[in-house]
Amino acid sequence: MKIAVIGTGYVGLVSGACFSEFGHTVTCVDKDISKIARIHRGVMPIYEPGLEDLVARNCKAERLFFTTDLKEAMKGAQAVFIAVGTPSRRGDGHADLQYVYAAVEELAAYIEDYTVIVTKSTVPVGTGAEIKKRLSALVDDSIFGVASNPEFLREGAAIEDFMRPDRVVVGVDCDKAQAVMQELYRPLFLSETPIVFTGRETAELSKYAANAFLATKISFINEIADMCEKVGADVQMVAKAIGLDNRIGGKFLHAGPGFGGSCFPKDTRALAKSAEAAGAPLRIVNAVIEVNENRKLAMADKVLTACSDDLKGKKIAVLGLTFKPNTDDMRESPSLDIIPALQAKGADIHAFDPKGMDEAENLLTDVTFHEDPYATLEGAEAVVIITEWNQFRALDFERMKDLMNNPVIVDLRNIYAGVDMAALGFTYSGIGR
Ligand code: UGA
Repeated sequence: MKIAVIGTGYVGLVSGACFSEFGHTVTCVDKDISKIARIHRGVMPIYEPGLEDLVARNCKAERLFFTTDLKEAMKGAQAVFIAVGTPSRRGDGHADLQYVYAAVEELAAYIEDYTVIVTKSTVPVGTGAEIKKRLSALVDDSIFGVASNPEFLREGAAIEDFMRPDRVVVGVDCDKAQAVMQELYRPLFLSETPIVFTGRETAELSKYAANAFLATKISFINEIADMCEKVGADVQMVAKAIGLDNRIGGKFLHAGPGFGGSCFPKDTRALAKSAEAAGAPLRIVNAVIEVNENRKLAMADKVLTACSDDLKGKKIAVLGLTFKPNTDDMRESPSLDIIPALQAKGADIHAFDPKGMDEAENLLTDVTFHEDPYATLEGAEAVVIITEWNQFRALDFERMKDLMNNPVIVDLRNIYAGVDMAALGFTYSGIGR
């Protein structure tokens, strides 16, 4: 089957490459000429494990193409995926759909035979219906269908998540569109992946409900972590104890500095806004957002306490800047709130991240970046672990201690065991222990 994907961001690029790996012929289109030129040279716009090889292999097999020409991309395509950005609208938290609707209005001119227009970007309930309305004003109803096919992949594990998903959700309002989507996902039918066909509104809302539920688990365990600290309990053991109950499940119960990234913060805000507009406010989701926002700042206080309530002129080493490991993505990373809060208290920040420093340089000011963790630690009064990159798990602790002015560790991801650190001579504080 021939398909087109509009937008070569995280979702568009990964989906396009994976659909071509299924054997479909995919053309990815983006307005950004330099981005497409870089991809043609084999340079990926994002860091995602395995992506470069996947793209190279499928380009070579002539199943995957990149262009800036939408007309060319849509020639013969039976499905067109919209995978453009849906950022938070400045000021009000609603999802900004201008790029989605701009794509819809542009693609209308190139629909020839029956084509399914599919939203892959996370879009609020009702967007599919609005797309249908806008397209109907421009082209005959009989030559297009509109489907919602939200993507559930995680950054850092995107290819695995796409190729072996827990489920695929497809929202359609006619059999013809369903048949096209069924054919597209046939390789997954064969591997017995559950494919949930449903109405468009249900599919749209399922995506937000999934992200909001996962975010709820995180804010919940983060509040339990705070309580653990007050009463002498251990949040990791609490998470284990409750997670063994199949009804709860052990995943997404790692306490930390709060969730970040391009999805949870934006999607919880957008869901809360559309629920309010629909007259069905989601009080739990509002609380999840509030807990998460306060949490990032509370992390700076944790560092202050570890440094005897005085950070003035003190050198603080920060390891990890991205919102999670295995990505170069800095969007809404807790580090972007924690570091300025430490600077406001007078700290001199030295930082290292394996993949995020290029982007971090544009987003943080007055931070000294280093090329390796040890250079970051030299003369530091404390080290703060913000992101749990694997390479931080097994540092040379003796060398760390020698380099630091004070052997203080504030471990916001609980990657070390407090007792081990104490035995090594560090003053250690983790989360919820
Ligand atoms: C998230 C969802 O996991 C995907 O299913 C979804 O497709 C994606 O959003 C999206 O909507 O596009 P992602 O943002 O890549 O994926 O990252 P996650 O692994 O979910 O982590 C999000 C944040 O939660 C990170 O800041 C992470 O550190 C934090 N987190 C996660 C915790 O603090 N504790 C946990 O137990 C798990």
